[in-house]
Amino acid sequence: MKQGFWKKLTKPIMAMAPMANVTDAAFRRMFAKYGKPDIFWTEFVSVEGLLSKGKEQLLIDFWYTEEERPIVAQIFGAKPEQFEEVAAMIQKLGFDGIDINMGCPDRGVEKQGAGAALIKNPKLAKKIIQATKRGAPNLPVSIKTRIGYSKNQIEEWIPVLLEENLAALTIHLRTRNEMSDVPAHWELANDIVTLKNKYAPETILLGNGDLFTREEAQKKINESGIDGAMVGRGIFGNPWFFSGYTPTTKERLTCMVEHVELFETLFKSDLDKKEGGIKNFDIMKKHFKAYVTGFGEAKELRIRLMETQNAAEVRVITETFLSSHFVLQQK
Ligand SMILES: Cc1cc2nc3c(=O)[nH]c(=O)nc-3n(C[C@H](O)[C@H](O)[C@H](O)COP(=O)(O)O)c2cc1C
Repeated sequence: MKQGFWKKLTKPIMAMAPMANVTDAAFRRMFAKYGKPDIFWTEFVSVEGLLSKGKEQLLIDFWYTEEERPIVAQIFGAKPEQFEEVAAMIQKLGFDGIDINMGCPDRGVEKQGAGAALIKNPKLAKKIIQATKRGAPNLPVSIKTRIGYSKNQIEEWIPVLLEENLAALTIHLRTRNEMSDVPAHWELANDIVTLKNKYAPETILLGNGDLFTREEAQKKINESGIDGAMVGRGIFGNPWFFSGYTPTTKERLTCMVEHVELFETLFKSDLDKKEGGIKNFDIMKKHFKAYVTGFGEAKELRIRLMETQNAAEVRVITETFLSSHFVLQQK
């Protein structure tokens, strides 16, 4: 088993969840600056896409800086030979690890036989892991999955994965059919730890689902004996999340402006060539919602920000708001 950076981490491990159209290069750089997780994850990227003519656009999702190490590239797909080729590409790009998505419920992803559809196809899942390891013999390989497809299948599905000697396994504690609609089944975490100890004690196990504060994450780790936690929605709008620092409203809003300016610098640089730049500005709008919350007039400010088209407009609106609302309260 290739463990790479995983064996150097101190437990409990706190990881950033991979999130499409969220954990892009700009988002990750903000966290590298204000509060680093123990591991960064990219957004998931299609192996088929990475081998197609359109790969340049997808490689943007693999941009990273040295400050983001250790960083894991996440991929999805259904053809082992494509995983082998892309794994070699990821190794060449200098990533610290490769993670394979086996939990995404998106229809388009599942239609290809990828993501959560692999829970129904354990033989193919194994072939994909083996092909990935062949393609990147120097990198640790991990999996992110769910507890089952339409019901709890941990007893049959988790051993299928653990038998492949993974460096790490992340379990989103819901079934595919539960999407994100019910509370995560943290009560199963302890049983999964037992399975891990039986089949692959060396594999690092991360739990995921509904962790919105560091304290909650720590509590779940203590209760279940899991090696660490992966946090997704809980980190939106809070690059300090992993540091434990609680920012003031002014700090958060100032940070949002920095984030949107970085987003524009990174992703709008070829405006001349391509209308709208290389990533759509609308991606920033879900971040506005997360940054602008929890204070009087937040809604009013959010509405104004939703109408913006670029970072300069965001700066003006935010600074005007801050100067009229916060000058007296916070220097
Ligand atoms: C906007 C969004 C995008 C996501 N994209 C991915 C992805 O690319 N790969 C992946 O494995 N999971 C993805 N997920 C799932 C999260 O990684 C995580 O498993 C899920 O949000 C549950 O964790 P949470 O309750 O901490 O948010 C995504 C979730 C959200 C909300």
